[in-house]
Amino acid sequence: MTAKPKVFLARRVYEEVERYIAEHCEVSKWTGEGRMSRDQFFECLADVEGLLTSTSPVDAALFDRAPKLRVVSNLSVGYNNFDLEEMKRRGVIGTHTPYVLDETVADLVLGLMISAARRIPEMDRFIRKGLWQKGADEELFGVDIHGKTVGIIGMGRIGQAVAARAHFGFGMKVLYSNRSRNAEAEERLKAEYVPMDRLLAESDFVVVMTPLTKETEKMIGAEQFARMKPSAVFVNASRGKVVDEAALIDALKNGVIRAAGLDVFETEPVRPDNPLLTLDNVVMTPHIGSATRQTRFAMAMLAAKNLVAGVLGEVPPHVVPELRELVQGRK
Ligand code: DGY
Repeated sequence: MTAKPKVFLARRVYEEVERYIAEHCEVSKWTGEGRMSRDQFFECLADVEGLLTSTSPVDAALFDRAPKLRVVSNLSVGYNNFDLEEMKRRGVIGTHTPYVLDETVADLVLGLMISAARRIPEMDRFIRKGLWQKGADEELFGVDIHGKTVGIIGMGRIGQAVAARAHFGFGMKVLYSNRSRNAEAEERLKAEYVPMDRLLAESDFVVVMTPLTKETEKMIGAEQFARMKPSAVFVNASRGKVVDEAALIDALKNGVIRAAGLDVFETEPVRPDNPLLTLDNVVMTPHIGSATRQTRFAMAMLAAKNLVAGVLGEVPPHVVPELRELVQGRK
């Protein structure tokens, strides 16, 4: 009997998922106290062919300590932690978990839009502080969502799921900007492809759903906030680094925009001294876009299938597009 390929799980996965991996691979995982240091992490990689992770930088420093590594399975749809050029050079396959989280993330985006527009967490705090003495005065009012315009930056699958909810559920007009036009989505969602400046100027809600790449890093900064309506609600559920967070804080403090709903941040976890924590016009969630049991289970199982197929020399179901050439010729 040939030995099973060795893999390391840097993320905790459900027992059933781990059992599936263990049927095909020799599994190791971190069992020490607390979080692993980077050095401890590298030590765990000395002998493995496969790694399951989500946010660890996958770069030259890691490959130098993991000479047998052939597959990195990200338990996320985003893969901005991959150094794609280095992976190509070293022939290391990278995979991710698209599709299974689209609707769940879109649900949260709508939640952030509504929460920020109708000030739900702020009103909740208002009641808890015992400040509800009479009916709501104008100073507690929010703004409508239905019938307004949403501008979606990044019309991938999640962007489209947001657009569907906005259009069919709330009768919103949908504008979008994207690397390329999507005629099918335009027809189905009555979405209009517009230049970014027009999207920023005309949208009541600006939603960022673009992946983090060199091109999108800090693509929303002071100049972009200045173009938005002073009544605009800004929502980011993609990656924090797509936004210049200092510029966002200025815009929120100085009334350049009305409010924000954020699931992602420049630094995660958010530091206790982050000024966003002091602002009432921000609604925050701790990067939980995909965090329902059903969806996280589906993501973990997909990551496991990617990992197992990769180390067995098969074609993993979801190799990231930039690295697909590495599996050409495999069955
Ligand atoms: C992803 O999969 O990239 C999401 O950000 C996780 O919530």
